[in-house]
Amino acid sequence: MIVQRLREIQNRYGFLPDAELKKLADESGVPLHRIEEVSSYFPAFILERTNPAKIVLRVCRDATCHLRGAAQLLDNRHGLPVVAQQLTQQTGQTICVEGVSCLGRCDRAPAVWVEKRPMPPGEHAWVYCQRDQPFLEGVLRRLAADEDPPAPDTDAGYLPHTNLNRGYSQPVVGPGDEPVLEAAGWSLDIYGRQKWPRDYRAVRRFTDYLKNLGRPLLPPPRELTGQELENYIQKWHPMLVELKKANLLGMGGAGALAYQKWLDVWRASSGDTDARLEVSEKYIVCNGDESEPGTFKDRELLLRMPHLVVEGVILAGLMTGATAGYIFIRHEYHEQIEAVRQEIRRAERLGACGDNIFDSHRNFPVEVFESPGGYICGEQSALIEAMEDRRGQPRNRPPELTTNGFRDKPTVVNNVETLAWTPAIVLFGGDKYESGGWRPPPPATARWGGRRLFSVSGDVARPGVYEVPIGLPLRELLTDARYCGGIINGPLRAVATSGPSGGLLPAKLPVDPKFDERKRAEAIGKIAERSAADAAFLDWFLRTHLPVGAKELDVLELPLDLVFFRNMNSAFRLPVEPMLGAAIIVYAGQVDILEQAVNFTEFFRNESCGKCVPCRIGSQKLVQIGTELLQRRNAGQPRTGAEAERLANDVRDLYRTLQLTSICGLGYVAPIPLATALTYFPDDLLRPPTGEAEVSRS
Ligand code: SF4
Ligand code: FES
Repeated sequence: MIVQRLREIQNRYGFLPDAELKKLADESGVPLHRIEEVSSYFPAFILERTNPAKIVLRVCRDATCHLRGAAQLLDNRHGLPVVAQQLTQQTGQTICVEGVSCLGRCDRAPAVWVEKRPMPPGEHAWVYCQRDQPFLEGVLRRLAADEDPPAPDTDAGYLPHTNLNRGYSQPVVGPGDEPVLEAAGWSLDIYGRQKWPRDYRAVRRFTDYLKNLGRPLLPPPRELTGQELENYIQKWHPMLVELKKANLLGMGGAGALAYQKWLDVWRASSGDTDARLEVSEKYIVCNGDESEPGTFKDRELLLRMPHLVVEGVILAGLMTGATAGYIFIRHEYHEQIEAVRQEIRRAERLGACGDNIFDSHRNFPVEVFESPGGYICGEQSALIEAMEDRRGQPRNRPPELTTNGFRDKPTVVNNVETLAWTPAIVLFGGDKYESGGWRPPPPATARWGGRRLFSVSGDVARPGVYEVPIGLPLRELLTDARYCGGIINGPLRAVATSGPSGGLLPAKLPVDPKFDERKRAEAIGKIAERSAADAAFLDWFLRTHLPVGAKELDVLELPLDLVFFRNMNSAFRLPVEPMLGAAIIVYAGQVDILEQAVNFTEFFRNESCGKCVPCRIGSQKLVQIGTELLQRRNAGQPRTGAEAERLANDVRDLYRTLQLTSICGLGYVAPIPLATALTYFPDDLLRPPTGEAEVSRS
């Protein structure tokens, strides 16, 4: 694979020498223009002709790091660039300080990445977290003097805040957290909870089933549909039924039903009976490219529970008849890449991976694919493009990846967490997972299903990774002692419930007071056509938290349920569609929301792959609008009246245009941060928030 070869060359030289690119073209037979196409696209690759710096310090400039002072570190007059310039003049070697997109250490913001080119043998880039400017200046000075930098802030050495308990094989107890970690622990962590050796018993259970079946596990004939199809799956593939019962949704953001993807890929080779025996290539790809600012749960899973991820990939492979698995991990997670590689080797030694898994005559090799970088590679079709040695740009769909994925073959792409849940579902059953959802206090009978992880950062006492019952009110996650332990730095001002993608919701969400009993009943009736349970949740929620005629909703009451968030729009009549992702970022006190929204918008502009013209141009236009609003306001000449309305209309027009024309989710969501700021925080357009921040833990 070209991408991996380019990485090897870069590791050797610190950049990509032109002569080495030509040599790679000669050796591989891949035309030089194809190699140039890839090497010039990904941010991880440094071309010789760009005159690469010898020492590079990158400050994460996104969401939580921005909140924690990244802009000051990057300030051209007083920040680290001044020191870099001085050292460049003194030493004659180019030293560069620049901004970079989220590094996945948002719970320890600000995060900084430092490289020497080439890196000393055996070393990776050094990551520093929550360090002040004098410390980082010291790092630059030592590297410029050819001395070793201070020890980095490794992920393995950090004890994250979490509600995972001591059943976990590596201690994760933070200072002062003793009583909190007595909590029940993560249901996902089956081996830790049960005190089992990590012996791939879910894979063994499935291979035992295959061996006892006494015939090949054939996918259903193509003509089977409806109840006949259900009966076939029930009879021949009972563990797939467990996945269905679990109602496990993709944890990467889109929330697709995991069962459906696995079924589609299992069926992909089905035809007549003979054709079903010809198992062609099929792939499982685990998407470990989490790059949405505020998201870092996969970082913990890959590092501390790689066995669950590897086991999930193998299960997906065996249960769908796939032929190979890849775990695609962002390159900034080098400790995680190493942990997963070691775990794959361990699984091979146990006989759980590779050839003839547990004597089942089934082969399924798994390997790591190190991402060449870029947020857009988290989009599943862009990820596949990157794996195929092309620019990581999303594909037009259809065809779907389940029929035409990696190498144009049927492919399951699942998020790290989605796969990590599957061993528990295979061993304990789908009902068990489903029963783990949140229940409101009696007499309410509504009940949510399933569990999931959230990464929480920003103004909370204990930013970290928490497993929660789906449907848990946001208030509990942010304020309960078992989770984040309280909002700090003032009363809640805003919350981003899907990193930058969902924009910024205010503490009190304005709703349409004209939405009367009849309209509510209609909205609930429509939802009931799709799901009676979803309609019941909504009905309960409206009765409990939003009496008819209410003008606003306390955002802390929102249940952490993706489906509920989707249904909110029709139920509350919100001007901007709310979203729930894996990243929750909390803003308290006097945080300047317009300024944060511009930061979010810049992230989307920076990460747009440029394939769709409206996204490429529109995201830049959004940054221009936001910046202008901010500059005018800060100069004491805010846009008001007709001027402000015209700009708000421009944002709304871009919102509609990008929703209609974008190939992928980035384009859909790029206007949302500014749209939410203009809609919910109009005062921030007139003046920056002022006043002393008070400390609150409520
Ligand atoms: S919407 Fe934006 S990021 Fe997505 S494919 Fe189009 S240009 Fe690329
Ligand atoms: S590491 Fe900076 S926002 Fe994630």
